[in-house]
Amino acid sequence: MKATVDPDYCTGCGVCVDICPDVFHMPENLAIASETIPADYEDDCQEACDQCPVEAIQIEK
Ligand code: F3S
Repeated sequence: MKATVDPDYCTGCGVCVDICPDVFHMPENLAIASETIPADYEDDCQEACDQCPVEAIQIEK
């Protein structure tokens, strides 16, 4: 699984970082995602994707 955050959509709300801090980071005002998602974090990563209010997170399985 891979996750990416589209910086054109991300508003920096931080929901993804709250749900899955091992994958999503916010070094500045926008979130970025680890390139490859360890299997243990896939469910949380999917939850972060589902909860993003602007659907900025894309997941590739
Ligand atoms: Fe951005 Fe969505 Fe996360 S708006 S900070 S990618 S929850």
